Amino acid sequence: MHLPFNLLKFIFCILLFINLILCYDPPKRRFHNSLIIDDRLLIFSGVLNASTHTFELFYLDLSTSFENNKLTWTLINEKSLPVYTSRSTAILSLDNSTIYLYGGLMRNKDTYDYDFSNLVYTYNYPTSTWSTPKLGGDTVPIRQNIKGVIDNSGIIYIFGGYNATNLTSNKGHLYNDMNILNTVLNTWTTLSISGNLPIRCAHYTVNILPNGNIVYIGGVEDVSDYTVGFTLVNINQIKLFDTNTYEWSQMNATGDKIDSRLSFTSVLTPDGYIIIFGGSTYATTNADISSVNPKLAMLNTNKNPFEWSIPSNSEVNSPPSIYGHTANLYYDHMIITFGFNLDTRLYSSSGQVYLYNIKSNEWVTTFSPTENKSTTTTDKPIKTTLPAKKSKALAIGLGTAIGVAVLISFIFIAIFVFRRIKTKRANQSWQNKDILEIPGDNQNELY
Ligand SMILES: *[C@@H]1O[C@H](CO)[C@@H](O)[C@H](O)[C@H]1NC(C)=O
Ligand SMILES: *[C@@H]1O[C@H](CO)[C@@H](O)[C@H](O)[C@H]1NC(C)=O
Ligand SMILES: *[C@@H]1O[C@H](CO)[C@@H](O)[C@H](O)[C@H]1NC(C)=O
Ligand SMILES: *[C@@H]1O[C@H](CO)[C@@H](O)[C@H](O)[C@H]1NC(C)=O
Ligand SMILES: *[C@@H]1O[C@H](CO)[C@@H](O)[C@H](O)[C@H]1NC(C)=O
Ligand SMILES: *[C@@H]1O[C@H](CO)[C@@H](O)[C@H](O)[C@H]1NC(C)=O
Repeated sequence: MHLPFNLLKFIFCILLFINLILCYDPPKRRFHNSLIIDDRLLIFSGVLNASTHTFELFYLDLSTSFENNKLTWTLINEKSLPVYTSRSTAILSLDNSTIYLYGGLMRNKDTYDYDFSNLVYTYNYPTSTWSTPKLGGDTVPIRQNIKGVIDNSGIIYIFGGYNATNLTSNKGHLYNDMNILNTVLNTWTTLSISGNLPIRCAHYTVNILPNGNIVYIGGVEDVSDYTVGFTLVNINQIKLFDTNTYEWSQMNATGDKIDSRLSFTSVLTPDGYIIIFGGSTYATTNADISSVNPKLAMLNTNKNPFEWSIPSNSEVNSPPSIYGHTANLYYDHMIITFGFNLDTRLYSSSGQVYLYNIKSNEWVTTFSPTENKSTTTTDKPIKTTLPAKKSKALAIGLGTAIGVAVLISFIFIAIFVFRRIKTKRANQSWQNKDILEIPGDNQNELY
């Protein structure tokens, strides 16, 4: 009796492992975070609905080719996130070892209640551990709908944002302060700047240019005082923050007509173009949101003033109108993940990403890393600080495991059914809990 039991236990563990690690099917989401470390597109946080709290960190392997609608997500450390958050910002340290996660609508992992007792978390990629850094300096403010950016001396800049002071109605305040998180000294500072302050703003995009100028585009702003409705930031009125002088300035961009928007994304190409995608418009009168035109546009930052243009083929095979997605640039591809479709009012499938080739300026369906890696760079840095990829060793181990799995697939099915029932039960018990509606999941999509 003893031996067969151990054998069964062994098989059970392997199958559970394959099911969890290899066949991870992440919940759909919006207002999540994504960044690229070590040829992996990491995804975490974000919101689906009031009863789905996801603490997973998972990734898409960018070292192999894939079709954009046949993805294999891999789960890292199940339920490892220390907090449940959406509308937060996540920034990668200069040595690519540490993720700084700040702000958002944060909820306690055990109670699911709002919990803003700690606002900055770090994730150490080599050791796969989350921790709570001790930060010196000023008090860290509670903020949502912010986006941070890091300069080449390791300072993260976080501009303005929103704070929902009533977490039921989601009413709150917009800000225009500049907060900096020094990742070398581990200090937080709210800069005191008086000249040329921009209007209070959130839901913008941000990119830092090689000359140290930070470019803020779009979002919503508060033209009156606090409580009255917000308006869309004119997308031509670009906010610039000079990290060398700590001074603000504004620039009126020229060129093609682009709808103003919020909850969109931007990436900066090596040749100085900021490519924006998606997002939504916003009607101050009834807080209604709808799709934008064009969905994709480029801002040439090499010109003064900056100039907007619409790539001629960018509507061909374009993704639908989505917002609350993320975008990351990896060599020649801008990769769009998750988000919410404004036309169908459905979430983007978790089995699909959208790929925009920044060289050929068109949407493509195949991702092939080696081909496009070589066209962009010749000196890929040697990753000495990062651990040897587990995936290769995993693949060999799993090769054997899969062989076993084929032979005893009936057990797999049994376990699968078992797990489904378990998840269903877990979901039911969550729904029985008295969970607050997440602001932004009702008609007040904006906040
Ligand atoms: C939330 O989403 C999950 C996953 O799709 C689903 O099972 C659940 O029924 C949803 N709950 C509500 C309240 O919509
Ligand atoms: C971090 O990653 C980026 C691109 O992924 C690379 O250009 C950079 O050299 C890396 N930095 C270090 C210190 O490895
Ligand atoms: C921000 O909102 C929280 C509630 O979500 C509130 O407790 C806090 O006082 C607010 N902060 C400011 C500065 O208004
Ligand atoms: C917060 O909003 C809810 C719903 O609109 C309202 O009933 C409640 O009175 C508000 N709370 C405060 C402190 O204003
Ligand atoms: C940009 O345009 C606005 C109005 O269209 C004008 O008030 C402002 O002075 C301009 N700013 C710059 C820097 O030219
Ligand atoms: C890779 O880049 C080249 C041009 O740089 C382009 O022609 C090709 O289509 C790209 N491949 C993919 C799969 O996007």
